[in-house]
Order: sequence, then C-alpha cells, then structure tokens
Amino acid sequence: MRIYLIGYMGCGKSTLGRKLSEHLNLQFVDMDHYIEMRNHKTIPQIFAEEGESEFRKKERKALEELAEFSDIVIATGGGAPCFFDNIDLMNNSGKTIYINIDPSILADRLLNSKTERPLIKGKTREELVSFIDETLKKRNQFYQRAKFEITQPDMDLKLIEELIS
Ligand code: S3P
Repeated sequence: MRIYLIGYMGCGKSTLGRKLSEHLNLQFVDMDHYIEMRNHKTIPQIFAEEGESEFRKKERKALEELAEFSDIVIATGGGAPCFFDNIDLMNNSGKTIYINIDPSILADRLLNSKTERPLIKGKTREELVSFIDETLKKRNQFYQRAKFEITQPDMDLKLIEELIS
C-alpha cells in the first residue's frame, strides 16, 4: 500500500497525511522533509543557493526513492506532480489523492502558515491570489490526473478509506 497526497501549497496534505497514516496503520513521510534530510539543507536554502530547477531534480530523486517504500502515506510538495513525469510515476506506484481546495481558502491558509515557502515569500494577499490563479491554471492538468479527488482536507478518514479501497 502506497498513498500519495497531492495538491497546491497549503491544501492540508501533511495534516491529512499524518491522520490518514495513523488511521490506516501506515508510516508517514512528508516529501519536503525527506528532501531536507537527504540533502542536509532546508527547502528555502536549496531554492536560494541552487535555484528551482535543481530543487525539482532533487524532488524527482526523492520521489524515485519514496516510490520504493511500502505501507506508506506520502505528502508530496505542491509542485511535485507537475514536473518531469512525476504524476505517472505516482499513479503507477500507488494511489494518488488530489486535495482540491478553493483558491481563496488556499490564500488564507498560506497567509497564516508559519512554513517558509520560497515561491510565495513576501507576497501580499492580492499578489498571492493572482499567483495561485496563474499557477493553478498550469498545474490543474497534472493534479486532475490523480486517481481520487477530495474537496475537504478534514474529510472523515473512514470515507477516504472507502473511497480508495
Ligand atoms: C512547492 C511547494 C512546497 C515545496 C516548495 C515548492 C510548490 O511544498 O515543495 O516550496 O512548487 O508548490 P508544500 O506544498 O508542502 O508547501
């Protein structure tokens, strides 16, 4: 059993991932955290020192490694399904669940989040909303290839279990 949670920054992948892994008695890995451990650098450090394209290569490598783990729930980074053929790799190696959240809710959650995210650092609410709209237009085609889709990150865990079984 291998489950990938995918979706935009701030949609609740890590929180749901942790709960779902406990509910299903699986291990949980946050992909960004895994990348940080493997590279001995934080995500903002990788972006600042090496740039986004190097980050995407590291992200791909992490995904290739995680696709070998069993009995696991993986909270992926928001951009992960949208680069290389990552979404195919995920669909071919596990169950993908897209957490599809309204852009204005994403903006509120991101403005209140303590996690440092290089792509949106320093943006006002207005700038953030247009950035989300713009990137979602490009990313939706990848997100929508997930095998399952939910619209609430706090959906009943038993219902999620039924959905993917
Ligand atoms: C990114 C999302 C982040 C992290 C990096 C890039 C993106 O993960 O991987 O900052 O491109 O959407 P979260 O979705 O966990 O914030």
